Amino acid sequence: MSLDVAALRARFPSLTSGIAHFDGPGGTQTPAEVGAAIAATLTGPLSNRGTSVASERNAEAAIAGFRSAMADLLGTAPEGIVHGRSATQLTYDLSRTLAKGWGPGDEVVVTELDHDCNVRPWVQAAANVGATVRWLRLDPATAELDLDALDEVVTERTRLVAVTGASNLLGTMPPVARIAARAHAVGALVHVDGVHLTAHSHIDVTALGADFFVCSPYKFFGPHCAALAADPALLETLHPDKLLPSTDAVPERFELGTLPYELLAGVDAHFPGEMRVLGPGTSHCPTAMQSLDIETVHFPGEMRGQWVVGPGGRGAAERVSGGRGR
Ligand SMILES: Cc1ncc(COP(=O)(O)O)c(C=O)c1O
Repeated sequence: MSLDVAALRARFPSLTSGIAHFDGPGGTQTPAEVGAAIAATLTGPLSNRGTSVASERNAEAAIAGFRSAMADLLGTAPEGIVHGRSATQLTYDLSRTLAKGWGPGDEVVVTELDHDCNVRPWVQAAANVGATVRWLRLDPATAELDLDALDEVVTERTRLVAVTGASNLLGTMPPVARIAARAHAVGALVHVDGVHLTAHSHIDVTALGADFFVCSPYKFFGPHCAALAADPALLETLHPDKLLPSTDAVPERFELGTLPYELLAGVDAHFPGEMRVLGPGTSHCPTAMQSLDIETVHFPGEMRGQWVVGPGGRGAAERVSGGRGR
């Protein structure tokens, strides 16, 4: 499949200077239509959500557009999409909510491969209620999780397994479905950090076996915010702390205060463009991503201070970092 790179570049005002921006962790650059949607929503008639007047309906439409765009991207139900300021905030909030049902004797499993966003909230939530944290270790020689220990680490005492869909540092994509199958076999829930994976791979939350999946649109051409996807029926069973007058409906009970309607509109605006441009039926398929992939960044083995993790030379099909595991 061929891409009209010049036409795509032209939609990104930040690229007109001719400077390429490679600060991936800070987010991708943003196409003009996202900025336009944010400005139009923010400066148009806007108030709290509702159905009576235009300003309320605009807020309502922004929320509906956000939920349906994210559900479309992730293969889930719009009613199970929760807005958050960031994946970090969503994970902290969820960890506190789930921990209400944990106590001494319960265990939570985190991994050495994960961004701290999917580690610290669980470690702290477990500590607050006297639950135990178990670790899936990273093998530095292979840059993979040590899954020989999976059955020993994930046991009948496990209440939750937190694992990344892809490491932002190494590009490693652990076999989430296999880990989730073990977790479900012992009655545990699975929380997947999809922040890095979502920018690189077609996502099917159900096929991954994720009970909870978080990602952040600012990593894939959208505004700075995040979404949590889960089965609405599962969300119904959870009770986060919330204000008395706030609705107890799902997913709203997980969203505190007034939503940033303009950012929600910005998320919706970018899906018809950037995220769907790479192939019908897939938001962004790995094959197209490979054709865009920057050729291998070579670090000479003898470079002082370099620590080479993993076997090196693995292709983008197996690894989703900007470089290729070297
Ligand atoms: C893999 C991964 N998880 C989580 C995060 C944190 O995301 P957020 O900034 O939305 O909290 C990042 C940010 O770089 C990330 O790369």
